[in-house]
Amino acid sequence: MKKEVYYSEYLKLESILQAQELESVKNQHPAHDEMLFIVTHQTLELWMKQIHFEIDSILQEFAKPYLPDATLSVIHHRLQRIVEIQKLMTSHFTVLETMTPLDFLDFRDDLIPASGFQSLQFKQLECKLGIYQRHQSSTKAYSQQSLHKEDQSRIDENTMTLFQGVQTWLERNPFLESKEYQFESSYKNALDLMFEKEKTLIQNHPFLDDEQRKKETVNVELMKDKFKDLFESENGDATQGKLSRKALLSALFINLYRDYPMIHTPFQVLRSLIELDQMHVAWKHKHLSMVRKMIGLKMGTGGSSGQKYLSESIEASSIFSDLVSLPSYLVSRQNIPVLPESISKQLGFRWV
Ligand code: HEM
Repeated sequence: MKKEVYYSEYLKLESILQAQELESVKNQHPAHDEMLFIVTHQTLELWMKQIHFEIDSILQEFAKPYLPDATLSVIHHRLQRIVEIQKLMTSHFTVLETMTPLDFLDFRDDLIPASGFQSLQFKQLECKLGIYQRHQSSTKAYSQQSLHKEDQSRIDENTMTLFQGVQTWLERNPFLESKEYQFESSYKNALDLMFEKEKTLIQNHPFLDDEQRKKETVNVELMKDKFKDLFESENGDATQGKLSRKALLSALFINLYRDYPMIHTPFQVLRSLIELDQMHVAWKHKHLSMVRKMIGLKMGTGGSSGQKYLSESIEASSIFSDLVSLPSYLVSRQNIPVLPESISKQLGFRWV
């Protein structure tokens, strides 16, 4: 017979609700706001646990040699869930900000040397996203040393990252090349036309003087060069967040031909990845802005330079910076190269 389950046992509420031990109480100067501080950290750690759960399942799918359509749809759904959790995690800081800097000072010294900096789940998450590996070695060494000895070996920099999983998936796009069609060259032609059109617009613009015309024309040339740079690296460079040439072409293809039924879900997946990327950075910005309000220029309880360390860490935090910059290279709808029928047939639905 099935054993009856009770709410509090099922949720282990006994242990969870007794896990708030105020250091200020132990040190005999109770600080009211320490409870909020602890609960906020614990809540965010729980949400991180859920994100790990979702990311692990996504990575498992990306590691397979083939992704069925239905699985891609599940991946999209889970990525969207992560994004919603990230939004929630960011908004938690507004509750914590009801604590004033003076309230925080009531118990700040009791915490030393504890800090969110020692959050193993946070570091593991950045590792799975592919960001942790990009931090400067000095930051990493400092970051490692702040962890408990047993936690240090639990950060595995060699595990497959979301960045690598996405890159491999994008590279498998079968529609980029065929006997009669080469996406790269057909798109380059469309772009050249777009750049020439831009130059004509500049030349004929009634409000520009000669100097402005010159300046704007140079800008167009710069854009052309940047586009070349974007595709120069055959293999990409995961340590710099640079996707391989093939993966980028594939992402561009997906952005352009997203209205074809076959491309719709891949497009949604790319959008969710960009959102996830931006929300991770947004969380870090919101945390930094709260830290500024709370401790100003003081050192962090974890011993870092505080604000300075956190702003530097944000700089290396975009997972898919290449994907984020793709819109600069989109041509308008009427200039998108028409696909050969053999390919457009494969990308569409035909009822008869
Ligand atoms: C009064 C509130 C808070 C202050 C003043 C604060 C301050 C800081 C500071 C100064 C650092 C840099 C490391 C150090 O020297 O300690 C840091 C790192 C960190 N904190 Fe907070 N924090 C607060 C709340 C939170 C909360 C609620 C979380 C949620 C889990 C959190 C998570 C983190 C994480 C994950 C890092 C490492 C970030 C990275 O390496 O990029 N912090 N915090």
